[in-house]
Amino acid sequence: MTTPPPISAVVGLQWGDEGKGKLIDLLASEHDAVVRYNGGANAGHSVVVDGARYALHLVPCGVFHRHTRSVIGNGVAVDPHRLIEELDGLSSGGIDFTPERLAISDRAHVVMGYHKAEDAMREELLTSTRVGSPKVFDQAIGTTRRGIGPAYSDKASRSTAIRVGDLLRRGVLREKLERACYFKGTLLRSHGPAVSDEEAHPDPGVLLEACLGAGERLRPHITDTVYLLHEMIRDGRSVLFEGANATLLDVDHGTYPYVTSSNCSALGIPAGTGVPGRHLGRVIGVMKAYCTRVGAGPFPTELDNEIGASIRERGREFGTTTGRPRRCGWLDLVAARYAVMVNGADEIGLTLLDVLSGIGELRVCTGYRIDGETTDRFLPDAAALARVEPVYETLAGWEEDLSAIRSRDELPAAAERYLGFVENFVGAPITTIGVGPDREQTIRRGPAEVSEA
Ligand code: GDP
Ligand code: IMO
Ligand code: MG
Repeated sequence: MTTPPPISAVVGLQWGDEGKGKLIDLLASEHDAVVRYNGGANAGHSVVVDGARYALHLVPCGVFHRHTRSVIGNGVAVDPHRLIEELDGLSSGGIDFTPERLAISDRAHVVMGYHKAEDAMREELLTSTRVGSPKVFDQAIGTTRRGIGPAYSDKASRSTAIRVGDLLRRGVLREKLERACYFKGTLLRSHGPAVSDEEAHPDPGVLLEACLGAGERLRPHITDTVYLLHEMIRDGRSVLFEGANATLLDVDHGTYPYVTSSNCSALGIPAGTGVPGRHLGRVIGVMKAYCTRVGAGPFPTELDNEIGASIRERGREFGTTTGRPRRCGWLDLVAARYAVMVNGADEIGLTLLDVLSGIGELRVCTGYRIDGETTDRFLPDAAALARVEPVYETLAGWEEDLSAIRSRDELPAAAERYLGFVENFVGAPITTIGVGPDREQTIRRGPAEVSEA
């Protein structure tokens, strides 16, 4: 194996919250830029630095490294007010955001307040328990209510969309807001009780001043990030793409319709940044040693029992963005192998291995039974996936606390067998292993060790 190429990506292989933030922070010190290409403030990426815990939603996770540039690419859905809040929070912790340190694409789409109201309204209407909502609607996605779906819908619909570059142009923005408020007000008012009076009457004048204010604040950072990234790559600088959300939530390749609204897999990188896929040298897929999901949708290996509750407790499995308890279950290797395939993942970062200590025997899903047949193919269609019965392999567990282990040969034999089983099944080497939330609680294997294994 040769030295890793300078353009790499970290992407989630499951339903999100795999620990991407921790790994990106770790790798950021070796990269000149960390680049978000998809999603928005629906992401919640935790980074623990010297015992202090940070939750990043829009700011890339390389931000704790002074010499690493943070780039918010054109594929991101940017809520400017939330972004400013996040920047202010980080600035008060001593991070100075110079234009060299943070760049935001002028082509990224803006998430407005009415997108969040529409997101919430749709979810309310899709919840059958709501008085007067017909049962036939019962398909709430369990979104983060950050306005992501409506903002990306507007991007596709075009005529009501606002891009970050528009925040700098009063005349253009006024016209766009007048049109958008007309459309959105009509839509929101048509669903009466699901929205507040204020939300039902978005005011273009008020929004104009708020947006221009945010634009002024962000102006030094707003640029054509496509040229910026190509110039960096031309100069031989190293770039790390930061996937938000995860492959099984990818709008095309995830468990549709229980997905988010962007291409979260590595397939989203070219479109979300303007960097062609052929530049991408190394894709690291991140997965937990078990599975979690937050929000609705099929989850074949879900454990609605004491083991699931114990994993939730030990893994602190509560949403970084919404605080919701995450659904927990056994590791689904059928899904993981599919995600490795879709991303072209070269390596695996396996996280939260420490959480499985002391659980007893461990099960991993190696196939699905459906309609009397067994298959080892993932079924991304939610209706099909909801009907599968997992086929499990049982592996020995271990009792030892792993949190102080820093080398793979020091792991208990059963933990090593678990890792070997995963590598064999998904067909990619595990190059980092997480044994705790801190940067240091990581076992890293260099290319030489991987090729010897
Ligand atoms: P992301 O969205 O993929 O960045 O993941 P989140 O930050 O939403 O959730 C992962 C959680 O697991 C966070 O609380 C992390 O601090 C924590 N974490 C990450 N890696 C490890 C690990 O190896 N062990 C333990 N115990 N916690 C971890
Ligand atoms: P990170 O980057 C976990 C889920 C939501 C919901 C569905 C659609 O922290 O891994 P949306 O608000 O995007 O319309 O919600 O997708 N979801 C995530 N789940 N981690 C995430 O991000 C997620 N981003 C979206 O819970 O089920
Ligand atoms: Mg998260």
